[in-house]
Amino acid sequence: MNPIDLKPTDLTGLTNRSVMNDLAAIFGEPWLEYRAEYDRVSALGGRAFPIQLDLELNASCNLRCAMCPISVESPKNKGPSTWFDFELYKSLIDFAVANGTKAVKLNYVNEPLIRKDFVKFVRYAKQAGILNVYFSTNGVLLTKPLAVELIEAGLTKIQISIDATTREVYDVMRPGGDFEKVLRNVEMIRRERDTRGSATPLVRVNFVKTELNEHQLEEFLATWEGRVDQVGVQEFIKPTAAAREIYSSRSTNKQQSSFRCAFPFRQLVVTNEKKVLPCCTFWGEQMPLGTLETPEQLLEFWTGDRMRYLRQMHLEGRYREIPECRQCVDGGCRTNE
Ligand SMILES: C[S@@+](CC[C@H](N)C(=O)[O-])C[C@H]1O[C@@H](n2cnc3c(N)ncnc32)[C@H](O)[C@@H]1O
Ligand code: SF4
Repeated sequence: MNPIDLKPTDLTGLTNRSVMNDLAAIFGEPWLEYRAEYDRVSALGGRAFPIQLDLELNASCNLRCAMCPISVESPKNKGPSTWFDFELYKSLIDFAVANGTKAVKLNYVNEPLIRKDFVKFVRYAKQAGILNVYFSTNGVLLTKPLAVELIEAGLTKIQISIDATTREVYDVMRPGGDFEKVLRNVEMIRRERDTRGSATPLVRVNFVKTELNEHQLEEFLATWEGRVDQVGVQEFIKPTAAAREIYSSRSTNKQQSSFRCAFPFRQLVVTNEKKVLPCCTFWGEQMPLGTLETPEQLLEFWTGDRMRYLRQMHLEGRYREIPECRQCVDGGCRTNE
């Protein structure tokens, strides 16, 4: 079975990590440079501007997953008034491309496919020169016409969260979802991609390890081997709020005093409310850098004192002195209580 590769500066392990590098066969030298740069910043190298931006295009979710903070208020569709403005999005993307951003993730703590005009965000970023445009979804709202549009818009990767090998465990982890439908949708988008002779989007399925589902991890890996391009195994992060209290058992990166987080070296997050956050876990929300009025402020936030402090603390292996980082990395483990 494919081993899980978990970097010492990351909270998500991956099978088949090299499949990302294989896309150089399509995107050529710029892709190779992007991946080399990604590895460099993931090893806590400095950079004048984030290699990646994460953008939250809407505020809502259609599920109420056991481990996720949005489950406290979902399922709820807060509607278009909370949607990220497309004109602002375009100006952010243009500014980011001009300053060397290579990747855009189109979700934060929300379900991105709630937006019916989602594909235009993918298309714009790709056409503007972002090499890696991807997102994570619960996969429930994916349909064949939408999959075809995403493929044609040039989506690089889709990550579909499943977390289980049986409907029973899925329903505990992801209440409101539809296990069989999501499995069908994974197969469907891969088939539509292959039928078109397209190498993208890469298809990754995700598993967040908690005490509710970790007994199914081995079976999950075996089930998906050879059927998708990658499996992501995410360390459980203590949510900032939750519909129920859950933990994970001892995990790989947590509890290692050598842990240093790569997020503040790699990316900034902009929420649907235009708040700029230093990292893409929920705990980033507790450390807002400010509210974005103009694209140029991305540079100010990135090079500002607060980001520099965060990076320095992680470089020195002192994340436990930052309460939010400590909660994020250590808080979800029962043995840390
Ligand atoms: C917050 S979701 C948003 C995107 C989409 N709605 C989805 O479910 O994939 C992004 C990823 O975070 C994961 N996630 C949710 N709660 C988590 C937690 N407490 N710890 C670690 N990952 C979590 C989800 O399983 C998913 O893979
Ligand atoms: S993990 Fe995704 S699908 Fe589940 S509640 Fe959170 S945002 Fe929604």
